[in-house]
Amino acid sequence: MKLALRKLEMTVLGLGFLGLAWCKNRLNGYSTPNTVAKSDPDGQIAYLLDIFASLRRFMPPDFDLRGRDVLELSPGASRGNGVLFLALGARSYHAIDVFDLAGGEDPAFYERLLEQFPDGSAADRARALALAGTPGSRAFGYAVGRDFDIPRLAEGRMFDLIVSCAAFEHYDNPATAIAAMTQVARPGCEAVHIIDLQTHSRWIREQDPNNIYRYPEPLYRLFAFPGQPNRKRPADYIRDIGDAGWSDVRFVPSRMVAPALREASLRGLSAPFAGQADMAILDGALTARYPGKAESPELSQ
Ligand SMILES: C[S@@+](CC[C@H](N)C(=O)[O-])C[C@H]1O[C@@H](n2cnc3c(N)ncnc32)[C@H](O)[C@@H]1O
Repeated sequence: MKLALRKLEMTVLGLGFLGLAWCKNRLNGYSTPNTVAKSDPDGQIAYLLDIFASLRRFMPPDFDLRGRDVLELSPGASRGNGVLFLALGARSYHAIDVFDLAGGEDPAFYERLLEQFPDGSAADRARALALAGTPGSRAFGYAVGRDFDIPRLAEGRMFDLIVSCAAFEHYDNPATAIAAMTQVARPGCEAVHIIDLQTHSRWIREQDPNNIYRYPEPLYRLFAFPGQPNRKRPADYIRDIGDAGWSDVRFVPSRMVAPALREASLRGLSAPFAGQADMAILDGALTARYPGKAESPELSQ
């Protein structure tokens, strides 16, 4: 009875949050890619260092960045990850987004960021700052297009590493994005995509992390806006990237529903999410290598 009441309460409250997110997007457009304000450089730096550490953790242990060309999809408010990749010896960094959220970033911010990042040789760090401070540098690129046409926005570049954070869950059609990203992947390219599967709206995210999965598709899509979480699950991403010809495909969970919320979070979900084994995963990383022979993908637990 208690669980049924809680489910009802969360379903009603969640509808309010879906409506709020829709209104916020109508009023401001896609303006806040993460929880840190652009006016808070220290917060931005802490956020970037945390994300970069996660990306590194999910990269293959033997992967050497030296001389590699790196693509970041949907960097959001900052190209700071690019400066860190260059500081570790990457040859180039290019970022592609649908919204121009990182345009006009002050190069002084990159200096502050590097001051907090001890790794990389002095020569690579100096090169990183020089490239990031040169407007229009091809080795530190940024291209924005509402069509998210990755091959066009890559402007003739090919890549050895393709990364993203909290991006794939916002794509209207992840399979299309994966197919497009595959067109700019060199043989042996590694992919590391950190994907946030849970409810995005603050407060309810803490109370009911699987709230977005409580609604049937037509009701959820009543509140659709560009970038609304697409509700794809690890199995969808594993299938899509495997279909695009990538191998060594894994989805490594990094956060699971807290034990205290587990029963309530897994109950009362809408089809096709109800009863799915992976619904306790809140976020994780999709990793793969291109190209490779087809093999059975695995969901690492
Ligand atoms: C939550 S932000 C994450 C940004 C950044 N990676 C970070 O960690 O702060 C989502 C990113 O996806 C992009 N995005 C949103 N909707 C999109 C869509 N429909 N297609 C492609 N990209 C989208 C946004 O421009 C933004 O860069």
